[in-house]
Amino acid sequence: MSDYTMEEKHSMEEKQSMEEKHSREINRRRTFAIISHPDAGKTTLTEKFLLYGGAINLAGSVKGKATARHAVSDWMEIEKERGISVTSSVLQFEYGGYCINILDTPGHQDFSEDTYRTLMAADSAVMVIDASKGVEAQTRKLFKVCGMRGIPIFTFINKLDRDANDTFDLLDEIEKELGIATCPLNWPIGSGKEFRGVYDREKKCVISYSDTEKGTKEGTATEIPIQEEAQLKELIGEEAADKLLGEIELLDGASAEFDLEAVRAGKLTPVCFGSALTNFGVEIFLQHFLNMTTPPLPRVADTGVVEPAGREFSAFVFKIQANMNKAHRDRIAFMRICSGRFDAGMEVRHVQGNRVMRLSQPQTIMADERRILSEAYAGDIIGVFDPGIFSIGDTICMPRENFRYEGIPTFAPEHFARVRQMDTMKRKQFVKGVEQIAQEGAIQIFQEFNTGLEEIIVGVVGVLQFDVLKYRLENEYNVEIRLENLPYEHIRWIENKEEVDIAKLTGTSDMKKVKDMKGNPLLLFVNPWSIGMTLDRNKGLVLSEFGRN
Ligand code: G4P
Repeated sequence: MSDYTMEEKHSMEEKQSMEEKHSREINRRRTFAIISHPDAGKTTLTEKFLLYGGAINLAGSVKGKATARHAVSDWMEIEKERGISVTSSVLQFEYGGYCINILDTPGHQDFSEDTYRTLMAADSAVMVIDASKGVEAQTRKLFKVCGMRGIPIFTFINKLDRDANDTFDLLDEIEKELGIATCPLNWPIGSGKEFRGVYDREKKCVISYSDTEKGTKEGTATEIPIQEEAQLKELIGEEAADKLLGEIELLDGASAEFDLEAVRAGKLTPVCFGSALTNFGVEIFLQHFLNMTTPPLPRVADTGVVEPAGREFSAFVFKIQANMNKAHRDRIAFMRICSGRFDAGMEVRHVQGNRVMRLSQPQTIMADERRILSEAYAGDIIGVFDPGIFSIGDTICMPRENFRYEGIPTFAPEHFARVRQMDTMKRKQFVKGVEQIAQEGAIQIFQEFNTGLEEIIVGVVGVLQFDVLKYRLENEYNVEIRLENLPYEHIRWIENKEEVDIAKLTGTSDMKKVKDMKGNPLLLFVNPWSIGMTLDRNKGLVLSEFGRN
């Protein structure tokens, strides 16, 4: 006989059903970033995803490119002036029972360290490649960060409605340039004016393309099994059919076996082909993607691995954005929820700040609006009002717990400038401003290795951050500065700084020794050749492209 009273039983059942609900909610979350080089079609693809999710009604009705980017984040004049989005935002929508969070990464060339940090919050990435361009510079950089984390990467080769590079060559380029094996899930039939559709390797049938579908949700694709040769030839033409049959034979003999474990370990990328603009192959890709991705992944903390479900709330700060609302001079700290459920009224511990608090004005930041939220689950991203207490990488957990998530690495800036202050009387504001902006992670600041604070060198991932710094110092701190560009493009952290005598280190004549605000020594280089020379001349020196916080 049970010793529990009816009331106790009832409350246990209630607790169990709540826990089941939480697990269900967490398990249906999919949180990913889209990585691509500008103009590969990231915005167009995202728009089509939203269309399938019913978040918008008609593709094309949403936004022209220019307005889209304004809609995403309209908080800074520079963005308006340049018509680009400086900041990343998150889009949440439902599709097929999944709750999907897309982390947007700024698409313009002038992307920032935030773009990299956003990848720290994702559980997987969709890589969009322009079929006529192949692997491009920004894709390569973003891929490197995803590779470092070993997250699954799903490739969408876009713009098949335009003349494309040879399919085998495209796959070869991905494998060689990015060092990841590829597994095509479908195969394009022609491209440009000759684009006829794709061959689905699993279903072994051809799905025809008709450009009359343009942008509407329901296309009228015809599916024909590959062995129905006569029908196939009628559908796509004799020449295309012969070519396709030859390519499939070659492909089946040569391509890597599909292996879900390898996909999840980030060692094999499933590849789909299509055209985001004319909305061909997008839903097929989305479905494959959702079948293969995982729910929110466990995260590593100093106390061990934290599972997303079956645990209470915890999160880490991956981005801080200042001045979204100019009237309030506020900062928003973006957090990725790693475990459990977040409830708007709950008390939490800010581990690094060593305080228990309530998170103020928790909100989701949608494409064009901020919405106050009452609950969120592991996998979701929330933005909270930050009175200036959070730093990138901080952990938030329940008051009775006390652990820290692994820090977010510092990413290598690629542009450097010396900052000169115009009015030396305003030294205090200047230092305060520069330090605060650096604390938010918008810029990195360095000093000459042997001198004091007098000379400040600023490093940024994207050159736009220089303008942001200048603008913000003028507008928020009333300090005018002049930036003198420096020729360095590469920075390296010294991994074994305890074993190296920095003063005696000999590099090339154009190498510069600096230190960060914590006193860590770093080296600046003009080109990769100098890095190699310096390593050659200083045996035992270990350099790293990422800084540990
Ligand atoms: P991004 O976010 O990766 O920077 O790319 P975006 O989606 O803005 O697309 C860049 C350009 O490429 C846009 O044209 C877009 O219409 C076009 N595009 C995207 N996908 C496809 C595709 O599958 N086929 C073809 N042919 N074009 C595609 P734009 O003229 O620069 O901008 P817009 O004025 O059309 O918005």
